[in-house]
Amino acid sequence: MSLDIQNHSSSNTCLQRIVLKKISRWPYPLIMVMLVCIRECTPMPDPHQRDKMLKLELSQQVGGRVELTQAEQQLDSRLHQLKVKEMGVSPFPPTKHFFKVRHIIQKSPIFKLLQKMPKGAALHIHSSAMVGVDWLVLNATYRPHCYICFTSKGSVRFLFSAHMPFLRWGCFSWSRLDMLRASLGDVTAFDNGLMQNLTLFTEDPETAYPTQDAAWERFEETFLALSGLITYAPVFKDYIYQGLKELYEDNIMYLELRVGLSKAYELDGTVHDRAWSLEVYRDITEQFRASHPDFIGTRIILSVHRTLSVSDVKQDVKDAIEMQKQYPDIIAGFDLVGREDTGKSIWNYQEALSVPSEIKIKLPYFFHAGETDSLGTDVDKNVLDALLFNTSRIGHGFALVHHPLAKKLSRERGVAVELCPISNQVLNLVSDLRNHPATVLMSEGHPLVVSSDDPTLFGTTGLSYDFYQVFVGIGGLNANLGTLKELAMNSIRYSSLSPELQNNATMVWQKKWDRFIAEN
Ligand SMILES: *[C@@H]1O[C@H](CO)[C@@H](O)[C@H](O)[C@H]1NC(C)=O
Ligand SMILES: *[C@@H]1O[C@H](CO)[C@@H](O)[C@H](O)[C@H]1NC(C)=O
Ligand SMILES: *[C@@H]1O[C@H](CO)[C@@H](O)[C@H](O)[C@H]1NC(C)=O
Ligand SMILES: *[C@@H]1O[C@H](CO)[C@@H](O)[C@H](O)[C@H]1NC(C)=O
Ligand SMILES: [Zn+2]
Repeated sequence: MSLDIQNHSSSNTCLQRIVLKKISRWPYPLIMVMLVCIRECTPMPDPHQRDKMLKLELSQQVGGRVELTQAEQQLDSRLHQLKVKEMGVSPFPPTKHFFKVRHIIQKSPIFKLLQKMPKGAALHIHSSAMVGVDWLVLNATYRPHCYICFTSKGSVRFLFSAHMPFLRWGCFSWSRLDMLRASLGDVTAFDNGLMQNLTLFTEDPETAYPTQDAAWERFEETFLALSGLITYAPVFKDYIYQGLKELYEDNIMYLELRVGLSKAYELDGTVHDRAWSLEVYRDITEQFRASHPDFIGTRIILSVHRTLSVSDVKQDVKDAIEMQKQYPDIIAGFDLVGREDTGKSIWNYQEALSVPSEIKIKLPYFFHAGETDSLGTDVDKNVLDALLFNTSRIGHGFALVHHPLAKKLSRERGVAVELCPISNQVLNLVSDLRNHPATVLMSEGHPLVVSSDDPTLFGTTGLSYDFYQVFVGIGGLNANLGTLKELAMNSIRYSSLSPELQNNATMVWQKKWDRFIAEN
């Protein structure tokens, strides 16, 4: 449909009416026509017209077409008032580094509501950073046979062992942690120090991580520190359970977890294969579901580091195909992880990533792509390449708004962007979250889901903190309860669950949502 301006330009008011009637399908060109008309037809903009334009624009945002019930509208206007109030108080949390304002967010009535809100699924979390540091230090490191060493870089490594471990990983000596603690005056201070080793959370982030390089260096280091602790088989099992519990307590009902290549080990040094870990994920999830039947499940996105060689990744893709055959219910697909700016581009791995389509097998991809602000580089092209490899979702997609074609494809194909705002801020892609590029995606109604990436490292649990930033900072006053509702429903709709399971999950979610609305 198109409009012929000439035909109508003499009869001012009627053109405006025609424009508004025909508007619903073609917003952009029509808004242009309206603007031209308003300038030519009347000396002053018509407030009625303006109102309609504002409504039209709002209807395009995420959740803009969600019809709210009476009860929902009431909660919505309360949220709106709360938001206006929070925006007027300094510091307004989304404008500051999350580490400096977490304690303020924790007291926010909006945040408390978001904690209670059924948020659906967490679709972008890494298995090596899914549990709060308190549990890791106060539970995991207090188990018997836990050894610790301090590295020359001032970090730590852990190993559970029946004997004094060999020196490795840059360690200059190992100590048994229970004996070390017994020799210390202030165990609490020591434990707080350990927590510092296992998270990026700190009170002065700008000094600790002044650049992207510094943040990423600490980020990778922290994963090494965590590794020996959480891959010890007995800890590993409880760790997964604890991770599910923390998500569940934040009203998350389903998880898609990025799982790396690391393997679990036993006290005697036995190392399990990856299939063992997958079975543990499956069994622990079932165990969790036995006491929390409204938790839907866990599916795994096998993830390999983007520093590996093409031939290694090719082998990993083949392994992933095998795992998918063996565990079709729990394997969702495949991803490349690690810092994009210093890693290899998706295009670099084209030979490896084409293996499934060459042998006519579907291995869904869930690529991290565009987690960069280096416009025009090879890694910046990852967003387009991810789509060329038919990715099911885009992790971060921070660079997507700079790629109109990729953005269009992502929207048309329903390839949702996994938005993890706190992660982007801590890793120094953006400082004031009101300037996050997802503001554009949100205002256009792009397919989006909200996630938390690495809760251990960023000092979060569940998704409520990231939802807060999206709702209050990125969405501004425009984001409303409809936005929140659509974001929660998106997390099921864009999950890897089969259509039948999505229907079931949506029904479970809807019941929770109705209860949430009734109780708040
Ligand atoms: C750690 O947590 C597990 C359950 O996850 C519990 O059984 C155990 O007693 C806890 N251990 C310590 C040392 O707190
Ligand atoms: C790691 O933990 C030790 C022991 O508490 C502490 O002395 C050290 O400062 C910590 N290092 C970091 C990087 O937090
Ligand atoms: C992507 O999907 C299209 C359409 O289904 C298909 O033709 C193409 O081979 C796929 N490409 C890859 C790399 O899987
Ligand atoms: C979906 O829900 C229906 C009705 O509760 C149930 O019969 C069916 O088994 C469920 N499907 C799956 C795959 O869980
Ligand atoms: Zn990630």
